[in-house]
Amino acid sequence: MEVCRQINEVREFVKEQKREGQEVGFVPTMGYLHQGHLSLMKEARKDNDIVVVSIFVNPTQFEPDEDYEEYPRDLERDLKLAAEVGVDLVFAPEVEEVYSTQSLTTVQVADLSDRLCGESRPNHFTGVCTIVSKLFNIVGPDRAYFGQKDAQQVLIIKRLVKDLNFEIEIVTVPIAREKDGLAISSRNKYLNESEREAALVLYNSLQLAKKLIIAGEKNAEIIKTKIVERIKGEPLAELDYVEIVDQNTLASLSEVKNKVLIALAVYIGQTRLIDNIMLEVETEC
Ligand code: PAJ
Repeated sequence: MEVCRQINEVREFVKEQKREGQEVGFVPTMGYLHQGHLSLMKEARKDNDIVVVSIFVNPTQFEPDEDYEEYPRDLERDLKLAAEVGVDLVFAPEVEEVYSTQSLTTVQVADLSDRLCGESRPNHFTGVCTIVSKLFNIVGPDRAYFGQKDAQQVLIIKRLVKDLNFEIEIVTVPIAREKDGLAISSRNKYLNESEREAALVLYNSLQLAKKLIIAGEKNAEIIKTKIVERIKGEPLAELDYVEIVDQNTLASLSEVKNKVLIALAVYIGQTRLIDNIMLEVETEC
């Protein structure tokens, strides 16, 4: 497995592969790899001749009061894990390599970026879209892989690719979960034992919502209230948001119908965790 620190090295490697007719899959990450990240890489391994992974904790997607400095990092361990799943190249640049100029350019997907997580993280998705655009231009992949764990992020990236005519297929990979249902996240590392237990409230409240919907409940407010109650019942949890929205537009729904996304963000102690479920609800004729 190649490890590159410089943009030029990655470009050269990929150009060479493409000259030989190889198809390139790309998995952007912020490192501290876990089974969620690895499931993206395994999927990329299946579909492509060459798999490129980036490991870069992107400062521009963190709000000033967020955990950029503390965000967990362990490149040595990451390289081992990436090699084990058959990654061909890891791009792990320093911040100065990626943001070498005082850049005047940002990439923003309007509307979709203001909803859900965008309300409490107003600059987050501009940071994500800017770095992902830069990485797409550096790597030039045929396909790029994103996790359903960050449902809003995938939707925004798909829109970015469409609006800016990137010739890249975006592949979405299902949420990898712990045995008890907790969505795997690099930030789970921050949780102590009692917080780890409390964190299950995200998954459990989504399962409760699913049950209600299967039982015929269509009123989004009622479902949201049940979720809020469940989260309030967990003393270590504090709700940031819960939304029931259309999967494609992220517009709020009052009635649960068609392709629905239920997404939430909850603080467990100091740690902000997110989770979601997608449901397809039959509409009665
Ligand atoms: P990061 O949080 O490291 O996640 C990298 C990719 O792994 C994302 O596509 C994310 O959705 C996916 N992922 C994380 N946990 C997952 C899980 N439990 N199951 C399935 N997929 C999971 O997302 C980012 O980094 C950044 O915003 C990035 C796109 C790299 C831009 O900086």
